[in-house]
Amino acid sequence: MDHQALLEQIARDVEPLLGTGTPAEYIPALAAVDPGRFGMAIAGLDGTVHGVGDWKRAFSTQSVTKVFALALALSLGGDSLWEHVGREPSGNPFNSLVQLEYENGVPRNPFINAGALVVTDRLQTLTGDASSELLEFLRQESGNPELSFDPEVAESESAHGDRNAALAHFMASYGHIANPVPALLDHYFWQCSIEMNCADLARAALFLARHGLRADGSRLLTRSEAKQINAVMLTCGTYDAAGEFAYRVGLPGKSGVGGGIVAVVPGRCTLGVWSPGLDRQGNSVAGVAALDRFTTLTGLSVF
Ligand code: DON
Repeated sequence: MDHQALLEQIARDVEPLLGTGTPAEYIPALAAVDPGRFGMAIAGLDGTVHGVGDWKRAFSTQSVTKVFALALALSLGGDSLWEHVGREPSGNPFNSLVQLEYENGVPRNPFINAGALVVTDRLQTLTGDASSELLEFLRQESGNPELSFDPEVAESESAHGDRNAALAHFMASYGHIANPVPALLDHYFWQCSIEMNCADLARAALFLARHGLRADGSRLLTRSEAKQINAVMLTCGTYDAAGEFAYRVGLPGKSGVGGGIVAVVPGRCTLGVWSPGLDRQGNSVAGVAALDRFTTLTGLSVF
């Protein structure tokens, strides 16, 4: 398969969508990004990457980091994580509070904000410095030692973080949070502010396409754990649009409100895509369309 020609075809196909949708407005530092940008990269199992458009331009990864935080927490701490967070789609917006009270403070899944806070709390307990450990992990997996936080975004998140603070305090009241809430929130906001480009993202996710193996052949996750993360990405990775994403794309994927999406074709390759214009659920309009074109043109979906 000629990956470069494929990406160029996809970029032409989604061009009419560029500039549609709106960048995330609730975090001022994200609202300023040009919604007309688009980049996409494919990484093969051997780490070879092809890209198109703005594929080397760094963007705010936001909730895409939730999948890497989950992988790191599972690899360091194992299955007991699932005692504190579920694996069901929420059907509610990513920052919703309502389900938590009905369900005794246990979040539906690790990819909504409440669930991600539980994962970050666990990472904090396991490592003592959750956000720095996650950044280091992403540097290693992407092969890019220059990955970094964006302090402006982290501060902006913190200044507009009342909803996340409410979620964390509410879960703490049920005894589901082990660390002090203010410190947990800081790690969560810094985690969301990590910047990566499409190539970094695709490369960093390759362990999920390699059934748990890293680039050097060492094992990060068991084959079952890699399958489990891919399954939760498919069912919960794109908020309350996960059903539509599975219908259109048919791949495990995780999005962020910076406009990035990472997707996995188990046993074959990974994809990183970025375009900041979001739909009403917070997923990149052109990003989802590009992945939709990818599976349509190649037949490479999990179905
Ligand atoms: O928690 C927030 O509001 C953002 N920093 C991350 C949001 C995002 O990408 C979607 N969340 N699941």
